[in-house]
Amino acid sequence: MMRSTLEIRHSDSLYPKVRNVIPAVEWPAFADDIDAITALKKRRNAVILAHNYQTPEIFHCVADIVGDSLALAREAMDVKADVIVLAGVHFMAETAKLLNPAKTVLIPDRGAGCSLADSITPEDVRLLRQRHPGVPIVTYVNTSAAVKAESDICCTSGNAKAIIESLGVECVIMLPDEYLARNIAAQTNVKVITWTGHCEVHERFGAQEVRQLRENHPGVVVLAHPECPPEVLAEADFAGSTAAMSSYIADQRPPRVVLLTECSMSDNVAIQHPDLEFIRPCNLCPHMKRITLANIRHALETMQHEVTIDQDVAVTARLAVERMLAVK
Ligand code: 13P
Ligand code: SF4
Repeated sequence: MMRSTLEIRHSDSLYPKVRNVIPAVEWPAFADDIDAITALKKRRNAVILAHNYQTPEIFHCVADIVGDSLALAREAMDVKADVIVLAGVHFMAETAKLLNPAKTVLIPDRGAGCSLADSITPEDVRLLRQRHPGVPIVTYVNTSAAVKAESDICCTSGNAKAIIESLGVECVIMLPDEYLARNIAAQTNVKVITWTGHCEVHERFGAQEVRQLRENHPGVVVLAHPECPPEVLAEADFAGSTAAMSSYIADQRPPRVVLLTECSMSDNVAIQHPDLEFIRPCNLCPHMKRITLANIRHALETMQHEVTIDQDVAVTARLAVERMLAVK
């Protein structure tokens, strides 16, 4: 679109914030979409919730609420707007819909899935319940609403230990992330029965890679997401959810740091801490990366793709999420 040289656009004020991670040559391609999305949000009375793994032009330039899976679920409860656009993956959009049944929840690309959510079906959960009668089932939010509906309570990587311990039992089943379950089991006396799901992004990190990083970048502080294999966490200086990693960096200010997680996270945090050195091994989540400014704009223009959940499933799945949110 042609514009006069005197016209100042909203996007013009945003570039200085992201210039360290978005080259100037790429910016004009984003600016048009950012201005259009800003106008569309007003027209539709919409908010954009973005996960920490979204790219900086989404995370820093159009999102209204950002955070880890737990924060997005909590914030989704308080949204006043009529429309929620979930810049993240499908299970996150379903969680927002569960907590906001009367609102329109849009996901810009229906194909934004998750290898963890795909690793387990409601039928699998029913069979596990039969095999372990009376053992509570704790389900990671990275699952479909139908799987949540078969479980007793949800958790995220940010609250898994507190959730398990809140149940006051000796043994729980924790689904579907095997590594998260094993990593949490190592921190509690509660016995944890695991499933064999893995995050395709975090399972690729290895202990040898961490040792190599330390050799190549002396003094580097290593932060790892608990979806990484236990041998990676054993080599790391700190493990926590994406929000916990951000807080660690803000509080401890390690001069040289590496985040063993999805790579956009480093870009987003580096923008907030330009004085720290971020080492960046880059493991991309192909599902998160399906969300773009262009398809967020399209979602708001066309009101697609609306997330709907079968009523029977929604009632019980909501209970599992609400039980989680009630645990402090
Ligand atoms: P958290 O943001 O809750 O740490 O989750 C990470 C993740 O892999 C989400 O898909
Ligand atoms: Fe799923 Fe892993 Fe991608 Fe998160 S990073 S959406 S857990 S595949």
